[in-house]
Amino acid sequence: MDNRYGSLAAWVYDLDKPIGHSFGDIEFYGRQLEGCSGAILEPAVGNGRIYIPLLERGLRMVGFDASEEMLVRCRAHCASRKLTAVLSHQRFEDFHYPERFEAIIVPAGSFQLLDFEQAHVTLLRFHEHLKPGGRLLLDLDAADSLIEDKGGQRSWPVGESELLTLTASPPEVDYLAQRTHALLRYEHWIEGRLVLSELERFSLRWWGLQELTLLLQQSGFTHVRLYGDYSEQPPGRGCQMITVEARR
Ligand SMILES: C[S@@+](CC[C@H](N)C(=O)[O-])C[C@H]1O[C@@H](n2cnc3c(N)ncnc32)[C@H](O)[C@@H]1O
Repeated sequence: MDNRYGSLAAWVYDLDKPIGHSFGDIEFYGRQLEGCSGAILEPAVGNGRIYIPLLERGLRMVGFDASEEMLVRCRAHCASRKLTAVLSHQRFEDFHYPERFEAIIVPAGSFQLLDFEQAHVTLLRFHEHLKPGGRLLLDLDAADSLIEDKGGQRSWPVGESELLTLTASPPEVDYLAQRTHALLRYEHWIEGRLVLSELERFSLRWWGLQELTLLLQQSGFTHVRLYGDYSEQPPGRGCQMITVEARR
């Protein structure tokens, strides 16, 4: 299975992007959601990096994730802060809630984990799960950052004698499907000995902005608006992160 975020991937995510680690997105989403009194859904909530700061601002956050290992971390971070978390194990493609949300947010490029068909099904579900007038906000990494990625190795020390490493292959680029595929090898070392290793196939899709606008409209959304690099301005040349907003 692609994009599994197993136990070592979840551990590395937690070390590399701890709760409150911001790319400018925590402040941006905080501003965008200010004054929302209804429930807000964050699909692919991960370890709670952004979910927890938004919960701490008093927003009514609900989250789900396909990785039980990520959810375990998110639940533990909420419990240690005495926060009541509403979290479940679900997937983009077939999630369900009886309630309707005031907003749905998908930060950190998680929407790009989906291929075209999965994305279409997911947008239909997002639309169905929003209140009339409710907003979808999702982030997209610029295509060049995906295509020009060179892979490489990174490491995170844990205490005195442990190390986590991540070795990423340069991605294969499938221009027809607009997807990149890399192999991620996660390793856990104790005193120089390898104790656990996990291999994940990691795939990301890049989107044309007009392509996504058309798919949003076909899925029932209106009022599509684009923001560049977490500012109030539309994306310009060289912009690295694009946030797409659309309304039900
Ligand atoms: C880049 S992390 C984002 C975590 C968090 N939203 C953040 O902003 O830090 C991507 C998350 O997507 C989850 N994920 C991957 N495929 C998924 C799917 N099909 N449905 C739901 N979650 C999925 C992974 O388990 C992982 O937690």
